[in-house]
This record gives sequence, structure tokens and C-alpha cells, in this order.
Amino acid sequence: MSMDEAHGGGMVSAILSSVVLLLLLGRTADAQRSLEFFDLLPEDPKLYDKMRPPKKDGQATVVYFHVTVMGLDSIDENSMTYAADIFFAQTWKDNRLRLPENMTSEYRLLEVDWLKNMWRPDSFFKNAKSVTFQTMTIPNHYLWLYKDKTILYMVKLTLKLSCAMNFLIYPHDTQECKLQMESLSHTTDEMIFQWDPDVPLVVDENIELPQLQLVKNYTADCTQVYSTGNFTCLEVVFVLKRRLGYYLFHTYVPTCLIVIMSWVSFWIKPEAAPARVTLGVTSLLTLSTQHAKSQASLPPVSYLKAVDAFMSVCTVFVFMALMEYCLVNIVLGDSDTPPKPAAPPPPPSSSGTDTAKLDKIFDIATKENAMLLSGRSQKSSAGPPPGPTPAQRARMRALNIDRVSRVFFPFLFAVLNVTYWIMFAEYI
Ligand SMILES: *[C@@H]1O[C@H](CO)[C@@H](O)[C@H](O)[C@H]1NC(C)=O
Ligand SMILES: *[C@@H]1O[C@H](CO)[C@@H](O)[C@H](O)[C@H]1NC(C)=O
Ligand SMILES: *[C@@H]1O[C@H](CO)[C@@H](O)[C@H](O)[C@H]1NC(C)=O
Repeated sequence: MSMDEAHGGGMVSAILSSVVLLLLLGRTADAQRSLEFFDLLPEDPKLYDKMRPPKKDGQATVVYFHVTVMGLDSIDENSMTYAADIFFAQTWKDNRLRLPENMTSEYRLLEVDWLKNMWRPDSFFKNAKSVTFQTMTIPNHYLWLYKDKTILYMVKLTLKLSCAMNFLIYPHDTQECKLQMESLSHTTDEMIFQWDPDVPLVVDENIELPQLQLVKNYTADCTQVYSTGNFTCLEVVFVLKRRLGYYLFHTYVPTCLIVIMSWVSFWIKPEAAPARVTLGVTSLLTLSTQHAKSQASLPPVSYLKAVDAFMSVCTVFVFMALMEYCLVNIVLGDSDTPPKPAAPPPPPSSSGTDTAKLDKIFDIATKENAMLLSGRSQKSSAGPPPGPTPAQRARMRALNIDRVSRVFFPFLFAVLNVTYWIMFAEYI
């Protein structure tokens, strides 16, 4: 019996030692063992409700956001959209989770699929028209679990976002385009979004846009009050200023040159009707083409834009230059027809009858009476002075109109141009 006991005792100690050995071996193997989702859940998985945010002490769960903007492009005025490439990080703390045994590293990579069975923030892009999630070469997202039960979910997205634009002072405008992220189903009692206290937003310095310039970027809160409650929302605002260079060289300078071209007409002889009319009409047509080109990329807005005002003024100028020729032509009258031999002034009738003389005296008397009555002293008009014929005088008048126009048109155009550029100087 004692032998058996002793044997039994030996057996027990052997089993115990082997168990301890196995346990030790197990310990070392544990570090290699892959982590299962259930290792993260509490002892009783029933206690973990993935629909309920991890409210610590009844406080709303805080989700920290970080956005890295890698690119902005495809700003489309016509559809009022733009595209952005972003890294979007959400960080939250879930105290209900269990940490993997003896976690030594700062954080641990988790399988992204596990998010389906965990509570996660339900943020959505409020002003997105489409969101593209890239899957090459692997799906572009990851999940980290930190030592302090903080979870980081990072995803790379390409977004097509809407941006309300106003073109009242186009092309001197500055647009504010936003990227808004709102909670879909949690009110502010349950969950609130906050910008990462350290680095909320990083915008690539090398962003280059063809027509606009990124002048400012900032983060803001856009929490919205709905009938169902307040929903937390954060936004990134990009301030984009239009570069004037393109418009200066493709719209303003050519338009001014066309207007100046239309003034060449004032230096052409009034008789050269085909030349002057052609010049005016060609200028008008070129200008309307220029006007159409200046807003090819814009939606047909109902209000007057700054560029429209400028173009309209230029059109009026060219039109007035054409009308000036019309006036010149009227003043010129029908002097183009061979001038009729001017009737020689009636020779002073020295040999008249008495009645004729009497009549003349009577005539002068009535004239003098009328003058006295009207209270004006007027030099009695002597016969028509010997000088230019009426046709020549008409031509002089026409040329004078041209001469005045040569000064008046450039002066007025310069004044209007200066006014325009002073008005919009603050936006340049
Ligand atoms: C592993 O963690 C447990 C408690 O979680 C602790 O008792 C044990 O000492 C740790 N082992 C090592 C090797 O750190
Ligand atoms: C974005 O804003 C930050 C802070 O205002 C600034 O330092 C940074 O230069 C801006 N980036 C761009 C591309 O404008
Ligand atoms: C929503 O926000 C408004 C002010 O922003 C506040 O007066 C109101 O009490 C909030 N409602 C809830 C349900 O939190």
C-alpha cells in the first residue's frame, strides 16, 4: 500500500511538475498565439453591447478626430464640387474592453473586421456626394488598440464634396469649401466629436490648384440642432482664393485692347464709311465672343458678376464708338454728293425802284423794333461771310466730333477702369 502511495505521490508530483512545465511553455507560446476577438470582450460577452457607446461615469463618449489632407483638386464651379484625398483618424476609449494578456508594446494592430462587433462612432461626411474607399493593394484602413484601451481607426478616403459658391465678385472671389463630419445616430448626450488636442489638422503644403490658391485652413464645430436632438459635427474649412493672373491675361487685357481698337475709328476720315463701320462691328463681335469665353466654366447664375459688369461696360464703349460714327455721318449730311454750286450772294441792289427802297427801309425798321422789343442789341447781320461752304462746315463739325471723341472716350474709359480696379483692389 505504502509503495502504491509513494508511487501515487510520485505520480502526482510528476503530473504537477509537467502541468507547471506546460503552463510555462504555454506562457511563452501565449505571446505567439494569435489574438481572438473574444479575448478583447469582457468575461461575459453578454455584458458588451456594441450598440451602446462606452459612457464613462455617464459622460458622453468623446471621439477625437484628426484629418490629414493630402490633396485638393477638381474644383468645379459648374457643379459646385471639389475633391479631397484625406487620412481620417478617429480615436475613442472603450473601457469595457479587455487588453490582450501582458501587452508590452505601446499599441497593437487589430483586425479591422472586428469593428463590426464593437461599438464604433457612426460619423458620416455630411456634404459628400461620393466617397471612394481604396482597396489597393490592401484595403486602406487600420485599427490600433493602445495600452490604455484607446482605439484608433484610420482610413484613407477620396471624397467628392459639395461646396456652395457665390460668384458675385467673380473672378475676384474667395470661396469657403468645407468638409463636414456629423454623427448619424448618436445625440450629443451619447457621443461628442472633438478635434485632436495635439494635431487636429494637417494640410499638405504642396497643394497646387490651377485657378485657386489655398490661403487658409481651419477647423470648426458645426453641431446641428435637429428636432430629434443635437448631433455632434466637426468641420474643416478651406479658404480658396481665385488667382487673377489667368483672367488678367485672358479676359481683362484682351478686352481693353478691343475697346482701344474700336477708337481707331476716330482717326479715320469720316468719308471712309466701310472702314469705320467694319471696325466697330468687328470689335463688337470680338467682345461678345470674349464675354462668352469669360464664363464658360461657370453655371448660369441669375445675378450680375463683376466680370459681367466689366464686359458690359466695354461693350457699351464699343457700341458708343459705333454710334459716334453714326452721329458723325449725320452731321456730315449729304455732303458726299457733289456740292451744289453755292448761290452767289445777291448783289447789292443799287438800282432799285423807290418802292423797293421804301420796302427795305420798312423792313429794317421792323427788324429794329423787334430787337428793341426783345431788348437785345444785335449786330445787323451783314450778308453771308465769304468762307467755307456749308458742306465744308459740316465736315469741320464732323471732324470736331471725332476730335472730341479721341479725348473723351479714352478719358472716360480710364476713369471707369480705375474705378473698377479700386473697387476690387481689396479682393486682389
Ligand atoms: C501577465 O499578466 C498577469 C496579469 O494580467 C500577471 O500576473 C503576470 O505576472 C504577467 N506576466 C508577465 C510575464 O508579465
Ligand atoms: C493650414 O493652417 C495651418 C494653421 O493655420 C498653417 O500653419 C498651414 O500652413 C496651413 N496650410 C496651408 C496649406 O495653407
Ligand atoms: C441643443 O443645443 C442647444 C443650444 O445649442 C441647447 O439649448 C439645447 O438644450 C440642446 N438640446 C439638447 C437636447 O441637448
